[in-house]
Amino acid sequence: MELKDAKAHNNQHELVAHRGFGLIRGIHDPEEVDQISELHIRDSDLFVVTYPKSGTIWMQQILLLLEAKGDVTAISKPDLNSNAGLMPWIEVNDNRQAFITAPSPRMRVTHLQHHFMPRPLSQKKGKVIYVARNPKDVLVSYFHFHKVANMLETPKDFDDFFKKFMRGDVFGGSWFEHIKTWYSHKDDMNMLFMTYEEMIQDLQSAVERICSLLGLELTDEELANVVKHSTFNNMKKIPQASYEQVPSYLLNHNQGTFMRKGTIGDWKNHFTVAQDQSFDHIYHNEMKDFPLSFIWDIE
Ligand code: A3P
Repeated sequence: MELKDAKAHNNQHELVAHRGFGLIRGIHDPEEVDQISELHIRDSDLFVVTYPKSGTIWMQQILLLLEAKGDVTAISKPDLNSNAGLMPWIEVNDNRQAFITAPSPRMRVTHLQHHFMPRPLSQKKGKVIYVARNPKDVLVSYFHFHKVANMLETPKDFDDFFKKFMRGDVFGGSWFEHIKTWYSHKDDMNMLFMTYEEMIQDLQSAVERICSLLGLELTDEELANVVKHSTFNNMKKIPQASYEQVPSYLLNHNQGTFMRKGTIGDWKNHFTVAQDQSFDHIYHNEMKDFPLSFIWDIE
C-alpha cells in the first residue's frame, strides 16, 4: 500500500501491535517491516534513529547539507514537498525496495526499535546516529504533533495524552524502552549518540561531530553554511525543511506547525505539579541504572 493510501485510513488512527511495537495501519506493513532486518548494508549507509519528536527532521537537514557541503540550493528540489523525499523513513511502505537500489550514500531515518533493523549494523557495517531528547519535551512536542498529524489519534486532552505516553501507548512505544534498548547496543554498532539539547546548546560542535562520523572534509565556510541553514529560524523559512508543504491529508496545517518551538523546557508550560511528580517517579524507576542524564531546562 502506498503512502498516499494512508489518506483512506486517516480516521482509523490505528496502531497495530507487531513484535512488541505499534505500527500505523496504512503507513507501515508488518511484512515489509520484517524484511528490513535482511537488508544488505554498505559501509557508507547511515541510519538516523529517533524516538518521535526528538529532532529527526533537524538531523535530516544537517546531513543533507553536509553531503551538499552547505549548499542549500543543491538540496532544494521543487518537486519535493519535504526532505523525506531525499532521506526517507525506511519503515514506511515502499521505501525498503527503493533503498536496495539507491546510490551511495544511502541515508535513512527510522523510529523503529532495534530488533527490526538490518542485522549487519550490529556487525559494525554502516553507521547509526541516535538522537535522544529529554522525554518531558518529547511528550509535549508529541502531544501537539498528534493534533497536526492525521495518521495519529487526536488527543482528548493533555492529561489523557500524558497517560498514554507514559504507558507507551503511542507510535514509537515506550520512550524508556526505545532509548534503553538502542543505547545498550551502542557498542555493537558504529553509533554516534547525540542529544537534542546538545544540538541546541552548541550546533557548531554537533555538526562537526557528525561531519567526522561521515568522514567528510568541509571548509570552515562550508561548515558555517551547514550550521546557518539548519538553525530553527532558518529551517522554518525553507518549506522543504519545515514540512509545511507536506500534503494536508497527512498533516493538518490548520492545527499547528511542525516547526513549533524548537527549545528546551517547554514541558514547564504544560505539566501540572502532579504530572511532574508522577513523571519523575516513573523516570527514576526506569532510568536508575542508565548512564545518561538529560538537560531539562535551558537555564
Ligand atoms: P517542538 O515541537 O518542541 O518545537 P521530529 O523531527 O523528531 O519530529 O522532532 C520535531 C521537534 O524538533 C519539534 O519540536 C521541532 O520544532 C524541533 N526542531 C526541528 N528543527 C529544529 C531546529 N532546527 N532547531 C531546534 N528544534 C528543531
